[in-house]
Amino acid sequence: MTVQQHLDLVEKTLDAGSVFSKIITNHLHGFPLYYNSEKAALYNEDCLSILKALPENCIDMIFADPPYFLSNNGFTCQGGKMVSVNKGKWDKSKGFENDLAFHNLWISECKRVLKPEGTIWISGTYHSIYACGYILQANGYHILNDICWFKPNASPNLSCRFFTASHETLLWARKDEKAKHTFNYGKMKNGDYPEDKIKQPNLQMRSVWSIALTKPSEKQYGKHPTQKPYDLLKRIVLASTNEGDIVLDPFCGSGTTGVACQNFANRYFIGVEVETEYCELSKNRLS
Ligand SMILES: C[S@@+](CC[C@H](N)C(=O)[O-])C[C@H]1O[C@@H](n2cnc3c(N)ncnc32)[C@H](O)[C@@H]1O
Repeated sequence: MTVQQHLDLVEKTLDAGSVFSKIITNHLHGFPLYYNSEKAALYNEDCLSILKALPENCIDMIFADPPYFLSNNGFTCQGGKMVSVNKGKWDKSKGFENDLAFHNLWISECKRVLKPEGTIWISGTYHSIYACGYILQANGYHILNDICWFKPNASPNLSCRFFTASHETLLWARKDEKAKHTFNYGKMKNGDYPEDKIKQPNLQMRSVWSIALTKPSEKQYGKHPTQKPYDLLKRIVLASTNEGDIVLDPFCGSGTTGVACQNFANRYFIGVEVETEYCELSKNRLS
């Protein structure tokens, strides 16, 4: 890094710190903070209220893991046992049109709050990801990649009447087709990814990532039914943010995105979660 690049980074980091504080104290002052630290703020709210209160063009990266709307009273296999697929009332579908309208509400607000060069990640299974992809395009985002997150230790299929679901899709899109988005190419290509049997050392990172299901050690503070693995969020934050960036997770669940942000220097995190029990879990993981 040259001296000038270092000075630019210091200035950006100082600016980000004051922008982050201004967002919390000026724009979100009407919402009680469930947890906060110098670089993290967690709200126990509906994400639409927080999104609407945020100023435009203030966020560098959004990771969104919205409800998949798959809690349809079915059954799946977990650890060799038959368990209900129901995650909670937040995951119940209200019908195709209403679910689509919900995705449109939050995805359009995310576009407003993203900086012009900002990017958004959305994760989902086939239950929701096509709807989110359609809404992203309808809102004029430019899709950069669809990542296949392959789960090498996915649970077997109980019915034996179709293929075993063993992946999720992550859409990565930028707000503006012409803007220069952040992609830390070298860190993806040359980094160390021992957890991923597909990634070859010093070769380009491909769009298929092999990452095991969330480890029991990551659930020491309690369980969230759809907690993402830390390795997944670590890779996303490393790939698409720089020092001084502000990251927003509107459906932050157990706070995995915030934990990943803490792993890297000077990332600022705003998390929103509607269920108090999951806010408590996030708070315990973050503090
Ligand atoms: C798929 S989970 C996210 C899991 C998270 N990525 C993690 O690693 O723990 C979706 C979360 O969104 C929350 N949620 C659902 N609707 C919401 C809304 N309108 N505003 C904020 N949070 C919401 C749910 O309570 C749930 O915890």
